[in-house]
Order: sequence, then C-alpha cells, then structure tokens
Amino acid sequence: MNIAVRIPDYSPAPGPIGGPLAWQSAQLSEDTSWVHHLGPDDIAELEAAAEKSRSDGLAILDIRKDNFALPLVSRKVELLRHDIMNRFGFGYMRGLPVQNYDRDTVMRMYFGLSAHLGDVVPQNRNGHMIGHVLDIGTDVNDYNKRLTQTSAELSFHSDACDVVGLLCLHTAMHGGESALCSAIAVHDEMMRRDPDLCRALYQPVTVDRRGEIPEGKQPWMRIPVFMWQNGEFTGYAPLPDYIRSAKRFEDAPKLTELQERALDLFFTLCCDPQFAVRIPFEPGDFQFVHNHVVFHSRTAFEDWPNQADKRHLMRIWISLPEGRELHPAIAERWIHITRGTVRGGVNIPNRKALIIPMEPMTPAFS
Ligand SMILES: [Fe+2]
Repeated sequence: MNIAVRIPDYSPAPGPIGGPLAWQSAQLSEDTSWVHHLGPDDIAELEAAAEKSRSDGLAILDIRKDNFALPLVSRKVELLRHDIMNRFGFGYMRGLPVQNYDRDTVMRMYFGLSAHLGDVVPQNRNGHMIGHVLDIGTDVNDYNKRLTQTSAELSFHSDACDVVGLLCLHTAMHGGESALCSAIAVHDEMMRRDPDLCRALYQPVTVDRRGEIPEGKQPWMRIPVFMWQNGEFTGYAPLPDYIRSAKRFEDAPKLTELQERALDLFFTLCCDPQFAVRIPFEPGDFQFVHNHVVFHSRTAFEDWPNQADKRHLMRIWISLPEGRELHPAIAERWIHITRGTVRGGVNIPNRKALIIPMEPMTPAFS
C-alpha cells in the first residue's frame, strides 16, 4: 500500500516581510490610533445590553453577537478588528468604569463585547471561558502549572488562540506592565542581521506542553517560531521556561546549537526597546492581541497588601471567524486550524464542562 506522508513545508520567507504589521515601538507613540475610547453613549449601551441579558435569563456563556445588541459599540469593535488584523496586530478599547459594576455585570460586558469580535474558546483544561490573571501564589517551578497566576515576569510569548484579550480591573503596586512586539519586525531584523539564525527558527523547536496533553500526543510538541505558507507569515513564541523544561524528556529532539543561538537573539530583540513597546494598564482597559503576528509579555510586579486591591486582569481567548491562514505546524498545538471555523483554545470535548469562574482564587488548573 502506498501511503502518502505529508511533510510540512518549513521553507523560510525569501527575505524581510515588511508591511504595516512590522512596526517598531517609536511608530506607536507617533500613531496612537490603536486606542479606541468608550464614550458615555457606548458605556450606557453596554450597561443596557448587560442588564437585558440578565433579565432575559441568559447565562454569560450563552451571550452571542446576535443576542447582545451593541449598535454603537460594534462600530468601534469593527475598527478594533481592523487594527488587530491588518494595521497593528493589536488594539485597545479604553474607558469602561469597571469599579461601578459587580463582577457579573463586568463579565457580561466583556463576554458580549468579545462576542462581537469573534468566538470565545476555552483557555485551559478546566474549561475556563474567562480566566483570572492574578498572583495566587502558584510555584513558578511547578512544571504542571502555567506562570500566569504568579507575580513573575513573563517573557514574550504567544497564546494558543487567534486573539487574546485582557480586561484590567486592578493594577499592581509596582510593575506588571504589558509589553508587545511585532513578530514580523523581529523576524525582519533577524533576517537582515543574521539570515542563518533567522532560518534556524523556521525549523521546529521542542516545547513542554506543561501537562496539557491532547489524546495521542507526546507531553512535548515541535513547532517552529517562524512559519511561511502561501506568502503568509505565522509567528509562534514559546515561553523560554517551557523550552528549558522540555529538556527533561529524554526522547524529545534537542535544539541545535544554531537554534540555541537563534533563540538568544530572538528573545533579545523581542525585549529591545526598539521593538518592544511597554503599555501601562489602567482599570477599564481592554487589550486584544493577535497572537500570530504580535508577541506579548509582562514585567514582574509587586502587589498591594490587601487581597481586594491586587493586580487583577480577566483574560479571554477568541477565535476570529475570518482569521489568518495558518501554517500546518500550528495543528501540533491546536485542536484544528481551519480558517473560518471556531479554532484554537484548549480541547474540551464536552461543552457542558465550560465554565466562567466568578472568583479569582480559582486556580487555572486543579
Ligand atoms: Fe499570554
């Protein structure tokens, strides 16, 4: 029997890619059109939509674009979508007075606004459809936990979905700033400085799955950092800790010496102020980042002594209905990658298992 084995094409881009998504940090201080502001009418509309969804007896999980009408706000969401997909690879919506609302109301607004952008997908194996990003004292050395629920610095990385959203409820006493860099700008700089190192990142890198292992898969995965398919770029930045801890698996392919050097240059460039833009969060800020073209990080932080004041962001993972064409190597990490379907997130076969934890102390994993 003749079985055709499809070998992924890891061919690199022919050179620097350029275009509007290849921004450097200085451009973002000159052009701040990536920030959209919610005015009083927008806020009143979100409040009314949240109230209506509650009086209709709708669970937050059942909120959809068509049952959460936002005639005004949805126009701004369309601008935001354009920024995310075509202009900057990210966008902000600012000005929701989060301190005026109870948790249920804020979550309804967040889920409803996000539903106008795309389809919300589960972000961890507990089926969380909104997650709490705050320090709950998770041990950074626990290989089966994520680092989001600590106060540690998070290196530049990408999440396993088209768009990751964060809504800020409280900021830290010190630090905890968000930073973004354009994956394409970093790629292009590597291509100009050292094409061999750049091309080394078009070969798969071994990454620890940290306990989130789809059926039939290894506890580690192999995905390149840079991918090029039909003239389209896909970027994937694993956390360095997850690359390091993958070395515990004896059967997993090791990084080449060239890849080790390439990753050093890659993470150095991501952090370089020429490419990294630091954006302080304010309560009421929504940040949305397109993971395939922009990488995100956060600085370490020192928190307030009172539990109620602690840095607290709520996270949402979104599948874009008309998202980018993705390189097949991403299928190693995602359930499926087909454009035009709900894709990305963590595989939760039973929809009944999806939940929205109201309280921040719920660990992302049990
Ligand atoms: Fe992240």
